[in-house]
Amino acid sequence: MSLIVVCSSSGSPGVTTSALGLALTWPRPVLLVEADPTGGSALLAGYFRGQVTPAASLVDLAFAHRTGALAEAIPALAMTVPGTEVSILPGTLAHGQARSLEALWAPLAATLKALDAMGQDVLVDAGRLGLTGSPEPVIEEADLCLLTVRTDLVSLAGARSWAQTLRTRFDAQGAGDSLGLLTVGQGRPYSPREVATVLGVPVLASLAWDEAAAAVFARGAPRPRRFETSPLLRSLRATGDAARARAGNVANALAPDHEPTPTNPERTAVEHATIGRASHERNGVTQRGARA
Ligand SMILES: Nc1ncnc2c1ncn2[C@@H]1O[C@H](COP(=O)(O)OP(=O)(O)OP(=O)(O)O)[C@@H](O)[C@H]1O
Ligand SMILES: [Mg+2]
Repeated sequence: MSLIVVCSSSGSPGVTTSALGLALTWPRPVLLVEADPTGGSALLAGYFRGQVTPAASLVDLAFAHRTGALAEAIPALAMTVPGTEVSILPGTLAHGQARSLEALWAPLAATLKALDAMGQDVLVDAGRLGLTGSPEPVIEEADLCLLTVRTDLVSLAGARSWAQTLRTRFDAQGAGDSLGLLTVGQGRPYSPREVATVLGVPVLASLAWDEAAAAVFARGAPRPRRFETSPLLRSLRATGDAARARAGNVANALAPDHEPTPTNPERTAVEHATIGRASHERNGVTQRGARA
């Protein structure tokens, strides 16, 4: 079970579309957290076309954290997408609320990691990096951070310095494998190999350029014919497979004595939380989770 963050550096390459598409094609229970500090909830306005009024948003989680009730609040406040195993924590309504979340991110990261040990993967839409209120502590704690880019020159130029910054941060934590690129529109015009060479980060997966299918997730557009077997859906499933495999490997590698990531649902949350904490303290040195 994993904490996977999707983010971007510039432009709007498709973070929200990809994160939601991944969630809706995820083969097991998943929580999608809309942590983009831009506000305005692209999920509610886009996929849900403004027709769903959630009971709560991340701001309510910040309140819950202040009263010491963060862990209980997450399942209570998340909304379930009918007919799926996907639950969603919608983001803020306005960018001005992002500051109120700053104290939430570190404890939320720790709580989300404990959640994943309880049998739920977590996907986070972290939006564009560097914004005020960016969920950096969540990004740092991710088993996998997918920097999302298109493959044209402008997109690559905008991603280059952030790719370097992220690589330096993850390498410093001994978690270089936690960083990968997600390309949107493979070969438009550059190939994954070329993108990886320019950005100095490996491409974990590539999503097909598929406007009709993307519009379903981005704007709640009607499903095109053969949606389920569309190029985007097929590439989302392949991306999900690659992301789960990489995140699982990272979690195992960071665990003491390479103890496999626990997957037995009968193990208690407390056991899992203990294992998770232990993985943060190797040789007496806190490697990850320092903020938690
Ligand atoms: N695989 C794809 N193929 C074609 N179009 C896509 C694809 N993914 C996303 N798009 C389109 O790109 C546009 C931007 O997508 P999206 O809103 O998901 O980007 P974003 O990175 O979340 O942007 P922002 O940083 O503004 O939140 C949308 O019009 C969406 O339909
Ligand atoms: Mg977005």
